[in-house]
Formats: sequence, structure tokens, C-alpha cells
Amino acid sequence: MTQSALRADEQDGLHVAIIMDGNGRWARERGRRRESGHREGAKAVRRVVEASPDLGIDVLTLYAFSSDNWQRPQREVQLLMKLFRRYLKSEIAELKAEGVRLQVIGRRDRLAPDLVRLIEESEEATQICRRLSLRLAVDYSSRDLLVSAVRAAAARTDLDRASLSLLLGQAMHTEEPAPDVDLLIRTGGEKRLSDFLLWECAYAELVFTDRMWPDFQGDALAQAISEYSSRNRRFGRVAEAS
Ligand code: FPP
Repeated sequence: MTQSALRADEQDGLHVAIIMDGNGRWARERGRRRESGHREGAKAVRRVVEASPDLGIDVLTLYAFSSDNWQRPQREVQLLMKLFRRYLKSEIAELKAEGVRLQVIGRRDRLAPDLVRLIEESEEATQICRRLSLRLAVDYSSRDLLVSAVRAAAARTDLDRASLSLLLGQAMHTEEPAPDVDLLIRTGGEKRLSDFLLWECAYAELVFTDRMWPDFQGDALAQAISEYSSRNRRFGRVAEAS
């Protein structure tokens, strides 16, 4: 069975996805420019990646840049791209040493060629790492992926629901398939999905926190997982022993 055929109730470790929101407000609250919030946000990424394996997380998907984020001011977009470059350059040796496999999901054709090269090199360098799979979503849009997936599947009217589901699930991933999301966390107080992992979150538990992303630490991640553990996941079935 391929990984993409695994439902969230059939896998071992957790797949946690995070919408890292609130960098701009965090900065404004301190009288700083939005960019300073993104810089602090990059530090929070490091902390969360470090804390993840010991919290039972196998796969961590972080929403770093949505396809709609291209509409932000040019200066902010450039800063974010610079932070991604810096992260890849400065962290890759450490990620490898810690057994973290890095993958970038999303479109690559609109990224600068040197960034694409860095992404490819980082993926290659960490390919054999198995302690944690870190997926950064950059120029990512679930709807765009769904549209391409439907195009790919349109001709396959011969397939039953399960096979078509598998095909769509595979087409939804720009790289390798990943298991369904168990827990989706959004920081920054907003309560929406913003075109993130819409297919993979079919049965995800949702945790929204008012904490701004730059203030997010390992303890907040542990708290979100503890809330997740107290939920009764039924996947459309009735609770056991009822
Ligand atoms: C949302 O906050 C955050 C982003 C669009 C960018 C996320 C980027 C980082 C966390 C830093 C760099 C990442 C890596 C992987 C090195 P917002 O700007 O929308 O905040 P606001 O809602 O308060 O304005």
C-alpha cells in the first residue's frame, strides 16, 4: 500500500500541519515593520522543527508562502524569499544531522532559479533522513492542485471511487505522497484554512490559537497535541462501545 493510501487512523506517528499566521501583527504590536515579524517567524520554525520528533510527529507541513501571497508588496515577497534561502543555507547541515528530511511542496516555476537549485540540493542532501519529514509549502495552492488533479483524472471514468480517490490524492502532491493530516494548527487568531491541504485535511482535527506565530514555542505545540489527543476521532463511524 502506498503512503497516500494510508488514512489518518492507520498510521503510526502524527502528521501535523501548521498555518503560521500573525507575523505582521506581532511586529506591529511592537512598533516594528512586518519584515521583523517574518524574521522572528523563521526562528519559530527552527524551534518547532526541533521539538517535533519528541512529540510523536512524523510529518510536519508548514505553510510558508501561499500562491496568493505573491500579491503582497514586492519588498515583503523579496524578504520572504530571502528568508527561505537563508533557512535552507543555514539549516540544512543541522537538519541532516538531526535526521530531518526536507521537502518543498508547491509550484517551482515562479521561484527564482537559484532558490529552486537550493531546494533541490537540500532535498537531495536530506533524502535518506527518517526521524522527521519536514515539508515546506511554498507557492502552494490546494485549489490549483485540485484543478490539475481533476484534469489528470477526467479521462479515467473507468475507475471506482477508491481508485479515483487514490489517483486524485497522488495528483494533489507536487512531490511524494504524504499521509492525511491528523492535526491542523493555525496561529494568529484567525479561523480559516486559506487554501491549505484541503484534500489531506478531510478528517484533520483543527486547533486554532490566538498566539502569534513568532511567539509559538515547543510548549504551544505540545499543548495543541494534548488537545488533539483528547479528541474523539471517529472518521464518520460511531464511537467504540456505544
Ligand atoms: C503569515 O503571517 C505568514 C507568512 C505569510 C509567512 C510565513 C513565513 C515565516 C514564518 C518565516 C520564514 C519561513 C521559513 C520557512 C524560513 P502574516 O504576515 O499574514 O501576519 P499577519 O496576519 O499578522 O499580517
